[in-house]
Amino acid sequence: MKIKLEFPKNFLWGAGSSANQVEGGITNCDWAEYARMGKLPSADEFTPDHYNRFEEDFDLAKSLGHNSHRFSIEWARIEPEEGKFDLNEVEHYKKVLRALKARGITPLVTLWHFTLPLWFSHRGGFEHKNAPAVFARYSAFIADQLKDLCELVATINEPIVFANNGYIRGFWPPFKKNPFKFIKVANQLIRSHNLAYREIKKLAPNLNVGVVKDNIYFTSNKNPLNILLKKFCHWFWNHYFLDRTYKQCDHIGLNYYFHTHFGPSLGFPKNDMGWNIDAQGIYHMLVDLKRYKLPLYVTEAGIPDRNDTIRPRYIKELVQWTHQAIVDGADIRGFMYWSLTDNYELAHGYTQEFGLIHIDHATRVRTIRPSALVYKTICESNTLTLE
Ligand code: BGC
Repeated sequence: MKIKLEFPKNFLWGAGSSANQVEGGITNCDWAEYARMGKLPSADEFTPDHYNRFEEDFDLAKSLGHNSHRFSIEWARIEPEEGKFDLNEVEHYKKVLRALKARGITPLVTLWHFTLPLWFSHRGGFEHKNAPAVFARYSAFIADQLKDLCELVATINEPIVFANNGYIRGFWPPFKKNPFKFIKVANQLIRSHNLAYREIKKLAPNLNVGVVKDNIYFTSNKNPLNILLKKFCHWFWNHYFLDRTYKQCDHIGLNYYFHTHFGPSLGFPKNDMGWNIDAQGIYHMLVDLKRYKLPLYVTEAGIPDRNDTIRPRYIKELVQWTHQAIVDGADIRGFMYWSLTDNYELAHGYTQEFGLIHIDHATRVRTIRPSALVYKTICESNTLTLE
């Protein structure tokens, strides 16, 4: 028997990317500088060159039935020197937005996705006391410039991941391992979002402004310590930032990748990066976000799967559990797979392949993967058919 799961009218279906992971040619951000020092893989060496090939990528997205696309603006391009804005780069992103519009694709624009302009990182990045004001000034400027070409905007991508990887685990810039700095940066990001929201609204009240948050499905066995750990992690990782920013949000974007279990392994299969594969966790995270009473978007969910053997089924399961969350009352407006094309997987360089579209890094030839066609059927029909 076939069951058809229908999604709400005008549901957004698409995929995402971020500037430094696909564009190429960004030389004046902190990640590029650390790559030159040999502390990170280069984003440029095998870049998909999306900066020059965005029309080709959007043609592919269109052919795959997408009606939305998430991408980010590179702050270092827009504000290469403090307070000096590069209008040629603003024009570039306007072209990107016009190209989406011409194809009937609704954009979701992330204003900042991990990489910092050099002048900002050199004086301490988000540790600097003026960082929230400086970030809000940039955010309001670019939002004002782009406000006639888009409606959905997110200020910050994954604040807690940024703070954790840069200030506790120490494997992203600025490579620190200091819990006090971690808390300081997390709080600065809260201030930065709240201030940016208010400054954007003054200039562009029409924009729908949110934040993109990576939430982890934490579970435990019955061991009291593990239960405590699970509760603490859920409170801190999933809600510390949102509890302090949701009143300055018109929507929340959820990035879902992880189910972390405290206790003996639950035996989940693993993806190419060794992460547990559990699509059902997205359901728990979406239902959990109902507490904020805001529209929700799945802004990222995806899998590194070079051979594309697990991805087709994983996408269907993610979509099925997203549907179940809608049935159970979550106000979900869209789903954006991560990512449209293979890209620079941050500190892992080009070793991981998340894309619906494979990129041959030597030739930059794009090839649609079978999983992209599975997703296309869902996007085009606005339904998921279960056999
Ligand atoms: C980030 C992306 C990243 C993806 C997969 C998210 O943390 O927003 O930039 O590529 O996860 O690791």
